[in-house]
Amino acid sequence: MRTSVRPIGSATFEAPPNIALVKYWGVRDPERVLPYNSSVSMTLGRLRTRTEVRFDPGLADDRVVLNDAPATGAPRAAVVAMLDRVRDRAGVDARAAVTSDNNFPTASGLASSASGFAALACAASAAAGLRLSDRERSRLARLGSGSASRSIFGGFVLWRAGTRTDGVDSYARTIFDERHWPALVDLVVLVEDAPVKAVRSSEAMQSTVRTSPDYPGRLEELPRRIDRIVRALRARDARRLFPLVMEECDSFRDVCETTRPPLDYLTAPSRAVLGEVRRMNREAGRPLAAYTHDAGAHVHVFTLEGNLARLRARLGRLPGVRSTLVVRPGPGALQVGRPRSRR
Ligand code: PMV
Repeated sequence: MRTSVRPIGSATFEAPPNIALVKYWGVRDPERVLPYNSSVSMTLGRLRTRTEVRFDPGLADDRVVLNDAPATGAPRAAVVAMLDRVRDRAGVDARAAVTSDNNFPTASGLASSASGFAALACAASAAAGLRLSDRERSRLARLGSGSASRSIFGGFVLWRAGTRTDGVDSYARTIFDERHWPALVDLVVLVEDAPVKAVRSSEAMQSTVRTSPDYPGRLEELPRRIDRIVRALRARDARRLFPLVMEECDSFRDVCETTRPPLDYLTAPSRAVLGEVRRMNREAGRPLAAYTHDAGAHVHVFTLEGNLARLRARLGRLPGVRSTLVVRPGPGALQVGRPRSRR
């Protein structure tokens, strides 16, 4: 990475969350956030985190405001750690003012850490005068939260696990852009009383690595599943894709449930959504839809535009479902306005 001669100043970026079709779960190097397996995601359109970073020599300490509230504790420490990485690389000493806002509810479980760290990595590096490529941004965002490496990019994204110990080959890239498959939609089913995560994903996944007897089998299976999912995406083949997405989600849930102590992210309403999708597929005699979920209670249901109204009506009626949100593949991180620099 290069240090630019441009003076330090401020920059604002927006970045989207993403939903994994193949989950990242388990790291071989926690310090460098190097995963055991590659993962695949769809970048969520409409939903954005907007982050401004301003390096200011007049500040005595970093000021971090997340969704209008001053950040403290672990969330603040994670932001400061990212600022420190950027200061290190850019040779900048100044403290920074960081403001970050989501245009979606933060505690909704819609992967605000992915969009948040992607926006922060881009804004902080630009504000410090570093001119990074998207690949470098992806590697930097990865250090804040693994899934953030994918939120730099739009459309359908593959994060290659890489094999190097220094992590240089562990970054994401777009495999099909956001215009690739316009008919594919993600119906996000938001359930009531989704619990706030008790254990951070980064710790929970390592507990799976250590204790789930099914984890090694999952790792062995993944290269083949990734290959099949990428081929189904390329062919825009929902009949092939949907069963694979559910198979992967079930594998992820299985290794969570067989972790000691067990990790259970779903609530009764989330399980009802999974059951209803299975029932509708059985009734139709073909895969109309595919469910998936992250380390949270909300469920993402992939379907084709033509089935959306039917699905939304059925799933929206289930007890404990709060609302549904239609999301399409969207673009990656983007700079907002022009960087203002100070001399
Ligand atoms: O990026 P993290 O540390 O929040 O972990 C994300 C883990 C999952 O969301 C469950 C899977 C994924 O690939 O996004």
